[in-house]
Amino acid sequence: MIACLDFGTAFSKAGLGDLKKADGFIELALGKLAGETEEIYPVSSSLFFENGRVLFGPQAVTRSLLTNRPRLDSIKRYISEMVQQVDYTVIPPEINITPYAFSLRDGVLLFLAYLTDLLGQALEAEGASRYTPRRYTLPGLEAKQAQRGAEVDGLMKALLAQAQVLADTFQGRWSEGVPVAEAWAALRTVEQLKELPSGIISDGLPEALAAAQSAIDKTTNRTLMLVVDVGAGTSDVGAFVVQPGRDGPVVAPVAGTMKVLRKAGDRIDEALIDLILTKAGAVPGSQTHTIYLNELRLKVRQIKRELLTVTPEGTLVLLSDDGSVDVTQAELEQNTKVTAFVRDLKKTMADSLAQLSEEALRSLNGRCRVVLTGGGSRLGALRDACGDALTVNGLGISLSVIDADPEWLSARPQDFVDVFDQMAVVAGGCLDPEDFARVARPMTSFGAGAPQRVIEPSYKA
Ligand SMILES: Nc1ncnc2c1ncn2[C@@H]1O[C@H](COP(=O)(O)OP(=O)(O)OP(=O)(O)O)[C@@H](O)[C@H]1O
Ligand SMILES: [Mg+2]
Repeated sequence: MIACLDFGTAFSKAGLGDLKKADGFIELALGKLAGETEEIYPVSSSLFFENGRVLFGPQAVTRSLLTNRPRLDSIKRYISEMVQQVDYTVIPPEINITPYAFSLRDGVLLFLAYLTDLLGQALEAEGASRYTPRRYTLPGLEAKQAQRGAEVDGLMKALLAQAQVLADTFQGRWSEGVPVAEAWAALRTVEQLKELPSGIISDGLPEALAAAQSAIDKTTNRTLMLVVDVGAGTSDVGAFVVQPGRDGPVVAPVAGTMKVLRKAGDRIDEALIDLILTKAGAVPGSQTHTIYLNELRLKVRQIKRELLTVTPEGTLVLLSDDGSVDVTQAELEQNTKVTAFVRDLKKTMADSLAQLSEEALRSLNGRCRVVLTGGGSRLGALRDACGDALTVNGLGISLSVIDADPEWLSARPQDFVDVFDQMAVVAGGCLDPEDFARVARPMTSFGAGAPQRVIEPSYKA
């Protein structure tokens, strides 16, 4: 058995893979275990300080909403920043109101410990060991930053090993929040430990590659696919060449095509806030504007969810002082922040494809397959853009979004099918390394000979 942990900007997810079965993926309901009200599988990647305690996940979100105070959100971005030596930047005092100077690294580690404990509980509920070896996912890095990949990988591995110790230290106590003094002491102790459970931390997988596994599996001819993963914080775009091999498909990332756009679901949230404030007639600089802005920042993801999935034709947003506005999905899609995001995403896709050699571009015959994943992609306008046409180096290319659902998906509960775009990364990450498309050295020019295999499966249960 192997587990996979996907630490996401907005939501974290996990799965368990029974390596003996082709459809051996077991979805882990971290959200339900954590007490999420809207989610079953994803759990909020949030942290909140209150009354001498640190709260996590849905408890952090709820308390911050009730007290109208900011929480630490989108903490995943600090992983790549930490590699640039900002480990010791402290969490801002408006968020950390305690006397302990927790660093951003501390915040990330505490959250990963909470997540590790949830994973442990979910594993035990499935009859597996709390210490089942786990893979973890790695965020995409721009081609020019690719050399940093090994450092990010090393950092994640180290953090997850320390997280297991902390998870066990506070086992059974995470949901009520951890007293800050104890959290501080435990963090300072764990950083001194020489013996860590590093053996259960398996390999790191690039998110885009893991997300594309089901699409790769279905590929019977040599083909190029553009993977577009629209999460909360970033949209990761990269081109991969898939080629059937004797022992299953072989995948090669195409050198230079990995592009990261720092705009994703969060940008849609910002647009929605702007739209609500404008419709509510809140004048920038006024007290009402400030009050509404603060409350909307805390609850915008919930409003967006309802608008995009439940009532697109009109969602009523209640504001303090009995204020209320009605917004529609069409209005949101016309907002300039949204149209600019969609335009930038298309440009990022074109920039990615522009890295292909001229010969390779021609060989596409004007067509390119797109694998679209991530919870941020649930906006009609964005899906449409990914199935549109692009001009790359003067050549017209028509894009088509392909079905990236694994065959076993239709037999799973509907509420899992509904969020599969968010879970595709962990589903791919739980595949038997023997079945996981082998990753070859980046191809410097797509069109060259067969990719060479350089990374062999590194883990076997
Ligand atoms: N039902 C829904 N309707 C609309 N948007 C949703 C829904 N569920 C989640 N989202 C949005 O999807 C985004 C989160 O998607 P996802 O879980 O794929 O991102 P992530 O993994 O946390 O981010 P990243 O991959 O950038 O680290 C958020 O912007 C969230 O608001
Ligand atoms: Mg993600």
